[in-house]
Amino acid sequence: MNAEKHPISEKVAIGKANSKLILVGEHAVVHGQPAIAIPFPLIGAESVVEYVPGAVKIDSEFYHGPIESAPKSIQGIASCIKATLDALDLPCQDLLISISSSIPPGKGLGSSASVAIAVIKSLFEYAGVEYTKEEVLRLANISETHAHGSPSGIDPLTITSNSPVWFEREKPIDYIKPNGDFYFIVADTGRMADTRSAIESVTSLLKKAPRKIQRNIERIGEITHQVRQALEKASKQLLGQLLNEAQKELEALGVSDAGLNRLIYYALQEGALGAKLTGGGNGGCIVALARNEAHSQQLSEKLKHFGAQSVWPFVLKNNDLND
Ligand code: MEV
Repeated sequence: MNAEKHPISEKVAIGKANSKLILVGEHAVVHGQPAIAIPFPLIGAESVVEYVPGAVKIDSEFYHGPIESAPKSIQGIASCIKATLDALDLPCQDLLISISSSIPPGKGLGSSASVAIAVIKSLFEYAGVEYTKEEVLRLANISETHAHGSPSGIDPLTITSNSPVWFEREKPIDYIKPNGDFYFIVADTGRMADTRSAIESVTSLLKKAPRKIQRNIERIGEITHQVRQALEKASKQLLGQLLNEAQKELEALGVSDAGLNRLIYYALQEGALGAKLTGGGNGGCIVALARNEAHSQQLSEKLKHFGAQSVWPFVLKNNDLND
């Protein structure tokens, strides 16, 4: 085929991104404590960019049409597209951006950040420009701020990493090398969560009862340090206890709900070593630590029968992944 004759119209570029899972430290991380998060490759987002004359158009499950008429719910991604085109010195025209995602939105698994990162990567690919991680994070945070108000930035950072991440605001990122294999299960309550309002509710609680809520937040920080040690020392029992303790603190912050508690208590009753909500809470998913591979399979089946909308068993391995 003659590339000269069909220079633009045949150009198609693809960008992909994982989802993420917060193991411990959600909410406290917004207020300066550390958190541990894991890239979660079982589900992800994909963006395909191609030349289509006219206004830039978005084709997604939630909206199909010109970027300028995008509804409020996808304003974050629309701003991120414009900022990325600007950074690439590309005009905001003649593109169709098709977005698909297997990450259920509003479930605390980083759907918004993953979509943004897939889109950014696809636009860089389309422009034939190599991206740096810093640039991707800067652009993804535009979409995240729209979606979540004042997020910590942990979601995009984890999604662009290959290893479990130790994240503290304003500090250099650190990576964790777990020792041994940890069998986790993520289970979805089926209820959509709103991370923005969960973040706002904790912030307003902190204003109302600063001493008490600050203690809960600091306790989550201590638990997060202990979780790191448990991962590095292969202490499954201890890790399970710590996840349970973190859940108590999140309940005190008011971000758990009946649907999450129901799945958590069921997982514990069926032998999980620990279980807690993951992400923003008030709906969304739980993460449970199974005893071993066989138990992980059994518990996954049981959680499904118990009514979890989706269940993802996965193993965190002691391997040599780098950032
Ligand atoms: C959301 O995945 C995690 C929160 O801590 C918010 C944030 O850190 O941006 C609830």
